[in-house]
Amino acid sequence: TTVVADTGDIDAIRTLKPIDCTTNPTLILKAVEMPSHADIVDEAIGWGRKQSGSSAAVTAAVADRLAVAFGSELSKLVPGRVSTEVDADLSFNTKATLDKARSIIAAYAARGIPREKILIKIASTWEGIRAAEVLQKEGVDCNLTLLFSLVQAMACAEVGVHLISPFVGRILDWHVKNEGRKFEPEEDPGVISVRGIYAAYKSKGIKTIVMGASFRSTGEVEALAGCDNLTISPALLTELDKDEGALVRRLSPDDYGTV
Ligand code: E4P
Repeated sequence: TTVVADTGDIDAIRTLKPIDCTTNPTLILKAVEMPSHADIVDEAIGWGRKQSGSSAAVTAAVADRLAVAFGSELSKLVPGRVSTEVDADLSFNTKATLDKARSIIAAYAARGIPREKILIKIASTWEGIRAAEVLQKEGVDCNLTLLFSLVQAMACAEVGVHLISPFVGRILDWHVKNEGRKFEPEEDPGVISVRGIYAAYKSKGIKTIVMGASFRSTGEVEALAGCDNLTISPALLTELDKDEGALVRRLSPDDYGTV
């Protein structure tokens, strides 16, 4: 299992030394609020002040600049790749997703970061999967996120997506809310969903990487040890490490490397 850090926190990446890193707008916002990242934020705001256009357009441009600025710094620290998410409000528009993905790749290239260091993270909607199909043919590797079912996973595999992020915690959240009870990791519907997708992929010889995402507890991570990749928050990675380091050693004996 390749251990991936699910964060925009540059300091956490320095400490945890994961192979890859995944971000999303919420994680970038958290990173923006950390005082240690003030220089990156100041640069983006300074740049925004020089831009013309409506305040909404400039605000959106600054948000994009921040995501790429954080992603670029993170990509210099990890040996693997950084996932950068295309805005969720484009999830049902293939052309807008393609335009945004290409502009993200160009913005990274302008900072000297090649596309090989990046995964374009796209929602696993019908339109998002169509966009990923085009991007993969152009040599842009994609991470298809917001994936909750085997149907979505198979559609991603059919178009040659590089990596999928089946969610665990958001499936669990729904069941906890609607059934009003707790679940042990072995009966956790999110864990069961990812195991099913992983088993189906392997039985069909599908090469798309399966990366479990959206974890709520160390128990869920442990229940999915052995999956291709797992993207885990710094808080849970630290908790796993405190637990005598047992699980982290099992997942990755060499500094969160690959086993
Ligand atoms: C990672 O790729 C996902 O964006 C992340 O794990 C989602 O986690 P959440 O359900 O806690 O938002």
